[in-house]
Amino acid sequence: MNRVHIKTYGCQMNERDSEAVAAMLRARGYRIVPSEDDCDILLLNTCSVRDAAEQKAIGKAGYAAARKRREPDFVLGILGCMAQNRGADLLERLPDVDLIVGTQKFHRVPDYLDNLRAAREAGIPIAEAIVETGSEEGSQNTIRDHMEGPGRRVCAFVSIQQGCDMNCTFCIVPRTRGDERSRPMEDIVRECEELAGRGVREVTLLGQIVTSYGRRDHPREAGASPFVQLLERVHEIPGIERIRFTSPHPRGFRRDLTEAFSRLPKLGEHVHLPVQSGSDSILRAMNRPYSRERYLEIVRMLKAAQPAMAFSTDIIVGFPGETDEDFERTRTLCEEVDYDMAYVFKYSVRTGTPAATMPGQVPEAVRERRNQALLEVLRAGSLRRSTSLVGAVQEVLVEGPDKTGMRLSGRTRANRAVVFEGPGRLAGSLAAVAITDASVSTLYGSLVPAGAGLQSAACPASL
Ligand code: SAH
Ligand code: F3S
Repeated sequence: MNRVHIKTYGCQMNERDSEAVAAMLRARGYRIVPSEDDCDILLLNTCSVRDAAEQKAIGKAGYAAARKRREPDFVLGILGCMAQNRGADLLERLPDVDLIVGTQKFHRVPDYLDNLRAAREAGIPIAEAIVETGSEEGSQNTIRDHMEGPGRRVCAFVSIQQGCDMNCTFCIVPRTRGDERSRPMEDIVRECEELAGRGVREVTLLGQIVTSYGRRDHPREAGASPFVQLLERVHEIPGIERIRFTSPHPRGFRRDLTEAFSRLPKLGEHVHLPVQSGSDSILRAMNRPYSRERYLEIVRMLKAAQPAMAFSTDIIVGFPGETDEDFERTRTLCEEVDYDMAYVFKYSVRTGTPAATMPGQVPEAVRERRNQALLEVLRAGSLRRSTSLVGAVQEVLVEGPDKTGMRLSGRTRANRAVVFEGPGRLAGSLAAVAITDASVSTLYGSLVPAGAGLQSAACPASL
C-alpha cells in the first residue's frame, strides 16, 4: 500500500518539486515506482500555464478515478499549479480525488498521505478530500536538492526563487505560484557546493523570474544586482563547470548581467531570453516592460560580450488584438535574432487574467496558422545554425549514455545536444568533440583524442 507514482506535467520547476516530494516520501518509507500501473498512490503534479496542460491532467485524473471506483483503497492526489488555481472546484469535475495540494504545501504531502493511510488501516471512512492551497511563509526554502539513489548525476536543478510579481496579462503563474520569494544566497551556494561534491558539474538556477532574484533582500553591490552576485558566488565553486538559469526576464538584463557573460566563463554561450512578441503594441498589452528595440539592444549587448552567443526564447502567437502586421514583426524579430531554439505557444485564455477579457480574441484557425508559419521559420534557422557547426570542435559536458544507450550524449557550451561514441567513464567530464553531422536540434560527432592537437583553445578537456 505504499507504492507511489508521481506524474509531472509542465516546466522544470514542477520536475524539481516532484523530485522533492519523492524524496520526502522515500524518507517516510514510501516506494517511488516508475509505472503508474503498479502504484497504490498516484500523484499528479500539474501545470496551469495553458489550457491544454490542464486538460491533460484532468483527463488522466478522470481515468484514474475509474480505477478508484474499482479499488477503493487506491489514492489519487492532484498537486501543484492546477490544484492551486482551481482548488476545491476541481472536486466538481473529479469528485473521487483524495488530495488537492497547492504549490506552497508540497512539503505537507507526506503527512497527508500518512493520515490517509492510518485512517484506512483503522477502518475510518474518509468522507472528504483534503484540500490545501493556502500560502505559507518560507515555503521557498522547502524545495532543495534531494539527490539520492544510484547513478551519478551530472546536471542538477537548483530552485532559487518561487513566485512572480510581474503580472504579464496572459499569465496565470502569479496566481498559481504566489508572490516572489527568494531563497537565502548562502543556502543556494551551500546546495551547489554539496552538489559539486557529489559529482554534479552543471547547475541550472530555477525560478519564474530569476533576474529579479533577491531584489528585496540584497542591495546592489558595485553595480551588480543580487542575481549577478549569486552567479559570481556559484561561479567560484570548484567542480561546477557550467551555470545555467531559467527563466530570466529581459528587464533584468542590464550591463552588469550582459557583461557577466564575458567575465564568467562557466555561463557558457547561451541565454534563454523570453520575448513573447516582436510588436511594441502587443508587448504593451501583455504588460511586458520593454520594446522590440530594447530587446534587440540586449541581444546586441550579449553578442558583444560573447560573439558565439546562442539564444532561445518563448513566443506567444495570437494574443488578443494581434494583427497580421504585429505577427509579421514577431517573424522578422525571429530572423533578426537568429534563435537556436524557441518555444512557440498559441495564446491560451486563462480565466482570471486580464488578457482573458480583452477585445480582439484571435480565432483558433489564425493562431494555428501563425504558429505553423513561425515554427517553419524557426526550424529553418535552427537547422542553419546547427549545420554551421559541422567541422568545428565543441567543448561538450558529457552527461551519460544517449537514449539508445549505445552512444554518449552531452551539451555544448551553447546548450546544443551532442551525440557521439565514447567510453561511459567520460560522464561528468568535458570532452572535445568534432562535429560531423547536424539535425535541427542535435549535433553528431566524434571524440577528439587528447593530444591530437585539434582541441580548441577554449576547451580544457582532459580525456
Ligand atoms: N517565467 C516563467 C514563465 C512561465 S510560463 C518561466 O518560464 O519559468 C512559460 C511560457 O509560457 C511563457 O514565457 C509564455 O511564453 C507561455 N505562456 C504563459 N501563459 C500563456 C498563455 N496564457 N497562453 C500561451 N502561452 C503562455
Ligand atoms: Fe508569468 Fe510574466 Fe512572471 S510570464 S511567470 S508573469 S514574468
